[in-house]
Amino acid sequence: MNFDFTEEQISIRDAARDFAENEIAPSAVERDLNSEFPKEIIAKLGELGFMGMMVSHDWGGAGMDTVSYVLAIEEISKHDASVGVIMSVNNSLVCYGLEKWGSDYLKEKYLKPLASGKMLGAFCLSEPEAGSDATQQRTEAVRSGDHFIINGMKNWITNGVNADVYFLQAMTDKSKGYKGISTFIIDKNTEGLEVGKKEDKLGIKSSDTCTLGLNNVKVPAENILGEEGMGFKIAMQTLNGGRIGVAAQALGIAQASFEAAVKYSKQRKAFDSPISNLQAIQFKIADMAVNIEGARLVVLNAAKNKDDGKSYVKEASMGKLLASQAAVNCALEAIQIHGGYGYVREYLVERFLRDSKITQIYEGTSEIQKIVIARELIKS
Ligand code: CAA
Repeated sequence: MNFDFTEEQISIRDAARDFAENEIAPSAVERDLNSEFPKEIIAKLGELGFMGMMVSHDWGGAGMDTVSYVLAIEEISKHDASVGVIMSVNNSLVCYGLEKWGSDYLKEKYLKPLASGKMLGAFCLSEPEAGSDATQQRTEAVRSGDHFIINGMKNWITNGVNADVYFLQAMTDKSKGYKGISTFIIDKNTEGLEVGKKEDKLGIKSSDTCTLGLNNVKVPAENILGEEGMGFKIAMQTLNGGRIGVAAQALGIAQASFEAAVKYSKQRKAFDSPISNLQAIQFKIADMAVNIEGARLVVLNAAKNKDDGKSYVKEASMGKLLASQAAVNCALEAIQIHGGYGYVREYLVERFLRDSKITQIYEGTSEIQKIVIARELIKS
C-alpha cells in the first residue's frame, strides 16, 4: 500500500479543510443546538464540487477519485459530522447509483443537478420491519401501464426532509423475494409522497432524518434504475461505497476527538504539571492515535481498491467497522481526559460522542459489517 497522496488529492483535502474551518466550524455548535439543517453550507459545497465528487465531468460532477473523497469527508466531519453524512448520502449513495445504473434521461434530469448541489438526494431502503434484514421490503410498486403505483413506508431517511430526489427500493414482484425488488428515482413533488415524522436524535442533529410515506405514488416506469428486479443488488453495491463515506465521517469525528484531547491535556494542570505528563493520559492518547491510524489505513485501502477497479466489499466493511469503533472510543476517551468539562456543552467533545454512535448503526450496523466481512472471507 502506498499512500503518498498526489498533488491533486492534497489540494482537495486542503480545500475541504479550509472550507470546514472557515465556513462550517463557526456555526456548528449553534446548528447542533437548534437541529438546524445547513442549507447554505450544502449549496456552497455543491458550488465547490463536493456534492458530486466522484461523478464524471460529463454528468456535472467533479471527476475526483475515492481517496480524495475520503480525505474531504474526514476534514469536513472533523468540524461537523452532520454535514459529513449529508454529503456522504448524496455522493456515495444517490449520485453513485444514478451514474452507474441510470439511463441518460435520468442522469440528465437528476444526476446533473444532484452532482452540482442544485438538488439533494436521499436513499430509501430501511422500513419499520426491514432494517438489517433489508430483503424484507414491504413497500410495493404495482405496474399500471407506463407507470408504477407505489404504496408503503420508509424510515430512517437521512436528508429525507430536505431532499429533492428519493432513491427508493420497492417490491415489484413479491413472489421473487429480494430478486423482485426494484429501485425508483422519485421526485419530491410527486403526489402521495409524504415526508413524515422528523426524528429527534441523540447526535448528527443538524442533518435531518425522517419517515417517508408513499400513498398511491405514481412514478413513470422510465424512473426505474437499471432493470426491474435489480433493486436489491443496486442497494447492496451502492452501500459498499456508502460505507467508505460513513467510515471517513467516523475518522473525522475520531480525529477531532483526538486533537481536542491532546490540546486540553497540554493546557490542564493537575498535580503541579500539565496532565499530558501523566502516563494515564499518555496511554489514552497513544491508544487513540493507534486506533485512528489503523482505521484510516484500512479506509484508504478500501477507497484505493475502488479507484483501481478491485473488489472493495470486505475492505469497505472493515473500514467502517474500525473507523466507527475509533470514533466512539476516541470520543469517550476525549471526554474522560476533559473530566467534568467533557460532559458539558461548553467543550465540543460531548457532541463528538453523540455524533459518533450512529456510525456504528447506519449503512449497516457493526454486526452487519462482520457478516459481510465473514461471508467475503469464507467464499474466497
Ligand atoms: N455487495 C454486493 N452484493 C451483495 C452484498 C454486498 N455487500 N451483500 C449481499 N449481496 C448480494 C448477494 O451476493 C446476493 O446476491 P445473489 O442472489 O446473486 O447471490 C444477494 O445480495 C442477497 O444476499 P444474501 O443472500 O447475502 O442476503 P441476506 O439476507 O442473507 O444478507 C445482508 C444480506 C448483508 C444482511 C444485507 O441485507 C445488508 O447489508 N443489510 C444491511 C442493510 C443496510 O446496510 N441498511 C442501511 C440502510 S441505508 C442507511 O442507513 C441510509 C442512510 O440514510 C444513512
